[in-house]
Amino acid sequence: MSENTKSAKLSIDGKEFDLPILSPTAGPDVVDIRKLYAQAGVFTYDPGFTSTASCDSTITFIDGDKGELLHRGYPIDQLAGQSHYLEVCYLLLYGELPTPAELEDFECRVTNHTMLHEQMMNFFRGFRRDAHPMAVMTGVVGAMSAFYHDSTDISDPWQREVASIRLIAKMPTIAAMAYKYTIGQPFVYPRNDLDYASNFLRMCFAVPAEDYEVNPILSRAMDRIFTLHADHEQNASTSTVRLASSSGANPFACIAAGIACLWGPAHGGANQACLEMLNEIGTPDRIPEFIARAKDKNDPFRLMGFGHRVYKNIDPRAKVLKQSADEVLDLLGVEDNPILQVAKELEAAALADPYFAEKKLFPNVDFYSGIILEAMGFPTSMFTPIFALSRTVGWISQWKEMIADPQNKIGRPRQLYLGSTARNYEDIENR
Ligand code: CMC
Repeated sequence: MSENTKSAKLSIDGKEFDLPILSPTAGPDVVDIRKLYAQAGVFTYDPGFTSTASCDSTITFIDGDKGELLHRGYPIDQLAGQSHYLEVCYLLLYGELPTPAELEDFECRVTNHTMLHEQMMNFFRGFRRDAHPMAVMTGVVGAMSAFYHDSTDISDPWQREVASIRLIAKMPTIAAMAYKYTIGQPFVYPRNDLDYASNFLRMCFAVPAEDYEVNPILSRAMDRIFTLHADHEQNASTSTVRLASSSGANPFACIAAGIACLWGPAHGGANQACLEMLNEIGTPDRIPEFIARAKDKNDPFRLMGFGHRVYKNIDPRAKVLKQSADEVLDLLGVEDNPILQVAKELEAAALADPYFAEKKLFPNVDFYSGIILEAMGFPTSMFTPIFALSRTVGWISQWKEMIADPQNKIGRPRQLYLGSTARNYEDIENR
């Protein structure tokens, strides 16, 4: 970030204020309003942060108009096609692609932390069997701060590192156990001779009576889904993690806050909502009815898996997933999957419709991911937990960046107050 010679002028009641303009390495310039209140006595108003940069960051860049997503400068399609999840984790966490020795060391550290404290099994058992796995994950990840005290001191870089590795390593175990618990099957412990994605698939689908043979093509597809969800700059859950951590809260509490935020249907919960919507549409002849509902201002229905705050072009992750969906279904011998057919025809119908074109609404990452996950055997309730486990590395990378930033201070937005001004309390009998 460099300070420009450019500045913005703000005029209030005839008084002029100069606001510095900061230039990023990519993306639009940013007007620096940090001293605005001190100098001019006014706040800015921006609900939903549509025009506000909440931090500076070197991790991920999105060009929403071009439909471009870069991690540390590397395009997501290259990472999804040529790299793999743990290498992308290393890139996000440490800023550069690893050498073979660095990657081996990192994989070894992650692998050594895949097991959960045995007493945590009791914690799972406290939940109802019909709990949503996201509810279980929020609780269990929050509870990690009660099990791993030796990595909660955020002022100690070594403890921050151990907490980061623990979270990345244990999240697949937690997600898989949350699933096993809700279907009443015994927990399957991690196996460290398997790669990250294969280990997760096995923990979800093996049972003590019968092991699960991991198909390398499915494991590759799983790994690609993890990679495509790894980070996405200052989205709602990442901003939640940053805000929670700005108070000095421990990493497990902050990541639990991120999981809770991700669950909402406007964010990570959209993958479950999207597949439910595609199933409800059921057959292509019903597409016009649903398109009409999405356009109707009096109907709260929205096309799930469509639209994005930042992308005003096709989400590059959706492009990769559409291709992956064809590959996975082919591999599984699912010919003419009716839901994939509905998805493809719905996408084409929406893209040809002036409403979606004018509002620049395109398919996002959640549009095709559910079709792949369902074909792999996951129930819809596991879609958002898989998003959460993949995004953990992004949350942690942003959390680490924030803690190391000397400018880090507690997040404390202001407000435009529209309530009553000061008034006197009335005794209850006089109201
Ligand atoms: N279907 C129909 N209309 C839509 C949709 C949609 N999916 N998305 C936005 N619009 C319309 C909206 O009604 C509004 O119209 P108008 O200007 O006439 O009031 C306009 O487009 C702008 O929408 P917005 O809600 O102001 O935009 P936003 O940036 O606040 O919301 C969004 C972005 C992703 C929450 C929204 O597009 C949405 O609800 N999409 C469906 C849920 C979804 O797929 N979420 C996943 C997002 S990507 C993964 C992730 O973040 O986890």
